[in-house]
Parts: sequence; structure tokens; C-alpha cells
Amino acid sequence: MLQVKNLKKTYVSKGKKVEAVKGITFETEKGEIFAILGPNGAGKTTTIKSILRLIIPDEGEIYINGIDVHKHPSHALKYVSAVLEGNRNIHWKMTVYENLKYFGYIRGLGGKYLKSRISEILEFVELTEKKNELAGKLSRGMQQRLAIGIALLPDTPLILLDEPTLGLDVESSLKVRQMLEKLAKDGKTILLSTHDMQLVEKVANHVLIINKGRVVVSDKKEKLLDAFKKKRFKISFLSNNGYKELEKFGTVVEENGEKILNIQIDNMDQLYEVLEHFKNKNIEIKRLESVMVNFEEVFVNIVRGDEDGLS
Ligand SMILES: Nc1ncnc2c1ncn2[C@@H]1O[C@H](COP(=O)(O)OP(=O)(O)O)[C@@H](O)[C@H]1O
Ligand SMILES: [Mg+2]
Repeated sequence: MLQVKNLKKTYVSKGKKVEAVKGITFETEKGEIFAILGPNGAGKTTTIKSILRLIIPDEGEIYINGIDVHKHPSHALKYVSAVLEGNRNIHWKMTVYENLKYFGYIRGLGGKYLKSRISEILEFVELTEKKNELAGKLSRGMQQRLAIGIALLPDTPLILLDEPTLGLDVESSLKVRQMLEKLAKDGKTILLSTHDMQLVEKVANHVLIINKGRVVVSDKKEKLLDAFKKKRFKISFLSNNGYKELEKFGTVVEENGEKILNIQIDNMDQLYEVLEHFKNKNIEIKRLESVMVNFEEVFVNIVRGDEDGLS
């Protein structure tokens, strides 16, 4: 659906160069929720704006539905709509309904079709009851839903969202999440940028982690979680002696009067070494289990690993 190849962008402001994106490559599949995850300044917005041609990249190729965005921008961009950060596309002094009508016209819709499309969208984004309210008077969450509604008007197969849950409360974030899931189920391809771990953990199929303009990891979310799960272990012991030994290997906590050792390993050999050590010291193990990790831990570990590698 979307292919980005070796995207590069350097900004020059006040004589200073900022290499925002240093060669990013990825590809999305139809019907998936593809998340670009990265800390502030990682290059997420630059990537999204480059796809939309709101920024002209220095290098790289972008294809939407197989069409080269650089060579045939107006054709390629017919297949994509976007919700950018900060709802810049909403007119505050128009009502919800007027906004949808106005942007419908802009995207070349009209007549009965536009009218029924607007009703459909109002239902979908749960704003039917608010249709005559001024956009500027809505809550932040409702404004975001209106922005999403506007992006849905032309019914494009690809939808880009830059930080769709930024600044939203828990309930509004949940609504946005559910909408994205429904859209993907309907076969839409969703590309979103975020640093909201909950959003990634709950809805993403594929995760592209970028840091300082480079791809650190690109994989299915489940695979990333699995890989990390295999690295964290919880060990409990039969005997009550030798705690001093334990602390060399990880952190010791007490659970229900039992000492539990939490360890993190880079490969299985390390785990065997630890087990061998306990055997030699006659410390008997009662239980060994891998520990569930949440996506935030995965992310922090990956980005930290990346930073270590760079220094
Ligand atoms: N218009 C601009 N001029 C100069 N530097 C910019 C501009 N836009 C973004 N940057 C810089 O490029 C880097 C990437 O920014 P951005 O793509 O907005 O990252 P993100 O969306 O991941 O926070 C940052 O260091 C940012 O300060
Ligand atoms: Mg951004």
C-alpha cells in the first residue's frame, strides 16, 4: 500500500543543519495498523509530511498504491488522507457539520452523496449530537474525532495520523483507538506516528521504532513482545540460603514471604550459566518462569540499546 525507500531530509535553519531523517525504509501491508514509534525529535512528523509531500525530501522514493509520489503527486495523493498534529485542518468558527461540508467540497464531493457520507461519518466519530456546535467549542477529544471524520470523507484506502492521541484524556484515546481498529478491519491501511505506548500495545500490528532519524527496529508487534519475553525471567528457590549470591545476577524482591530473583539475559547461554552457578552452590530452584513485558519496556530497552551502541 505504501512504500518508503531510503528517505532522507536535512533541515537548514539559521545556517545550522539538522539531519531529521537519515535513510528510513519501510513498507505497509493492506489493512494493517503500522505504528511509527519514537521519542520527540526522532523524525516521525518529517516522515509523515514527506509522504504527503508537505515536505520535499532530499532523497528517497515514496510509492502510494504503487504510484510514485514525487513523479505523480496529484495521482498518488488521491489514495491518502491525513490527520496532522494539532488539528490544523479544522475551522474553529464553523460548526461540526459545516466543517465536514466544507472539506467535502474541497475533496470534490457534493450533492446527495456528500450529505449521506457526512451522516455516516458523524455516526462513526460519534458527533451526530454535536453537529451544530462550533468546532472551537468542542472538547479536545471531540475536535480530534472531527479531524478524523474530515480525513475519512474521501474514503481513501490509506490514512495517516500524526500523534492521534496526543493530549487526549483516557476515554478519548480509547475512542480513537477503537475507531482505528474498526477502520483497519474494514481494510483501510493505517499509518500512525506516536509515542503513546498504550496505543501501540493495543492496536498496532507492525511497529517501526525510529530514533534520531534512523530505523532501530521494524517488526510485527507480537514478535517484538515475544523476543523480550524470552529475555526476562523470574526465579524462586526452595532453600532459604545464599541470598548474597542472588544479588549478583539481578534484583531480588520478596513475594509472599518468598525471595524472587528477577534477571534479564541477552541470550540463553547466560541463563544456563546462572542456573549452573546455583547448582554448584547447592541453591535449589523451585520455579523458573519468563516474565510478561509491556510495550513500554520493550521500547525503552530498544532505544537505550541504540543509544549505547552510538556512544
Ligand atoms: N522546520 C524545521 N526546521 C528545522 N528543524 C526542524 C524542522 N522541523 C523539524 N526539525 C527538527 O528535525 C528533527 C525531527 O523532527 P520531527 O520530524 O518533528 O520529529 P518527531 O515528529 O519525531 O518529534 C528534530 O530535531 C526537529 O527539531
Ligand atoms: Mg512530531
